[in-house]
Amino acid sequence: MCGIIGCVGRGTETLDTLVEGLGTLEYRGYDSAGVALVDDDGLSVVKAAGELSALRERLADRALSGTVGIGHTRWSTHGPPTDENAHPHLDCTGRVAVVHNGIIENYQSLRADLEATGHEFRSDTDTEVIPHLVGKRLADGDTPSAAFRGAVDRLEGSYAVAAVVAGSRRLFAARNDSPLVVGLGGDEPTLDTADPAFIASDVPAFREHTPHVVYLDDGEFVTLDDGITVTDETGTRVRKAVETVGWDPEQTGKSGYEHFMLKEIHEQPRALRQCLSGRVDELRGAADLDLDLTAPTGVQFVAAGTSYHASLYGAELFRRAGVPAQAFLASEYATSPPPLGADLVVGVTQSGETADTLSALREAARRGAETLAVTNTVSSTADRECDHTLLIRSGPEIGVAATKTFAGQLAALNLLTLGTVEDVRSRRAVLPALRDLPGDVQAVLDSSVASTVAETYRDAAAYFFIGRGLQFPVALEGALKLKEISYEHAEGFAAGELKHGPLALVQADTPVFAVVLGDGERAHKTVGNIKEVEARDAPVVAVTDGQSDAHLYADHVLEVPETHPRVAALLANVQLQLVAYYIADGLGRPIDKPRNLAKSVTVE
Ligand code: G6P
Repeated sequence: MCGIIGCVGRGTETLDTLVEGLGTLEYRGYDSAGVALVDDDGLSVVKAAGELSALRERLADRALSGTVGIGHTRWSTHGPPTDENAHPHLDCTGRVAVVHNGIIENYQSLRADLEATGHEFRSDTDTEVIPHLVGKRLADGDTPSAAFRGAVDRLEGSYAVAAVVAGSRRLFAARNDSPLVVGLGGDEPTLDTADPAFIASDVPAFREHTPHVVYLDDGEFVTLDDGITVTDETGTRVRKAVETVGWDPEQTGKSGYEHFMLKEIHEQPRALRQCLSGRVDELRGAADLDLDLTAPTGVQFVAAGTSYHASLYGAELFRRAGVPAQAFLASEYATSPPPLGADLVVGVTQSGETADTLSALREAARRGAETLAVTNTVSSTADRECDHTLLIRSGPEIGVAATKTFAGQLAALNLLTLGTVEDVRSRRAVLPALRDLPGDVQAVLDSSVASTVAETYRDAAAYFFIGRGLQFPVALEGALKLKEISYEHAEGFAAGELKHGPLALVQADTPVFAVVLGDGERAHKTVGNIKEVEARDAPVVAVTDGQSDAHLYADHVLEVPETHPRVAALLANVQLQLVAYYIADGLGRPIDKPRNLAKSVTVE
């Protein structure tokens, strides 16, 4: 989704700081980009549809020298990705430039009012009303600061918004329901001494310059000048805590891998070690979560995309422990009648900023449930708004397709059920498997033949993924990963559902990936489904620990080490991540930035 960067105090390096910052926000997904800078002569704006390289080319022909600036990567919502619709947007006089992430719900009426008083619009966007509102107030005699506040007060909807005004060396910003963080440059900076100062949608945009951050809350305004002033909705100054982010800029580089996705797949052993560290106590047979949470009697999960698949897995773990649990797509939850009661609602969200998930969590809180965020992002909105937080500790994930954070979510959900509702017998059975998990993932990475399988089936017409029980979400995730980055048709099914429709599509050119772990009743039934597939001449790739007969009927086998079957699900997933990666790579797809997708979906 749209990315914002802004800075004050970088002198002649302002433009470079903005463009480099936009580069680190590319992962959020975008289809146009632009910058605005203020210097002694006024305000300059350069923007371009397409990749950042198009903006860079355009900038090469211009000598921009401003020292206060804002930049933006746009992910289209209102109007196609064109130069005109790219941000920053200007008011009629060209004195005010604004960048925005979110959706202004009342923009049509605001625009109609403004047009009625002579304002001319150049874009299809909802955003453009903001600079016009600021410009109108400036014309009426407001100071830039009052004009910005007055304009934002008129907005309904979600926004992280930043503005610069010709003639002022200040940067103004505000947030409501969209992420915005402030970076404080200098040694041991305080709000009063920070220099330079940054504003961004996410920390990587300025992490190279400072680890010191202030997380803004909804309804807050910030002015970057000589220091940083944060005020609340009423204009009262707020003393915000300055926090220091733990990871270094190196972690957001590719470290020699061709793509962030491949790097992040390979980072899974380390990410899982971090997730499990200090939380697995085998001696006592306990999972220590440091969560002040009483055992729930009913649980609902709300999530989107990959995190929804993790939620399906988590709900099944609770049910197996005898606690009623259901997983819901966050986008359906808030607007549906309340389902059967639950005293705990768990929002699973890597970013902690997915708008649908935040809405669902807020609705759950309104309905009286306790809320828990399972997230990777400290101080994200989900972390701050929920009653409890379980951090998955995966480290920054840049590839749009979630990989190591899905593994972290599954591991954390195991810890959650072990730490709250499971009995000592299952704790004693699962904890050793979790302890060995990072090493087992490494073994899969070291020995996988996924690239050969990918090469064999790269030109298939479609791909199907099947699994039962805890392997069902893995099948769904395998298909999602492949379609996200390869643009090929891929579907995941509960193995038993195959013959209730999808089998009509199964043919010689549609490989079926079957996840079969353990040797229980479910595994035997899935082996039965494999035979049905074979009878239709479709190739079968078994992802298996070798305990069942699956390998006997498969054309290819992607092996995983034998461990507790519910933990083996994570290993099977690694094989499917690699298959997706190598198919997409073989097809030459832009793996880290798939078309139309965004890492952090901050609009509903
Ligand atoms: C987007 C991303 C997915 C992610 C989903 C939920 O669609 O492209 O990879 O699974 O959002 O994101 P969250 O941050 O809530 O886990």
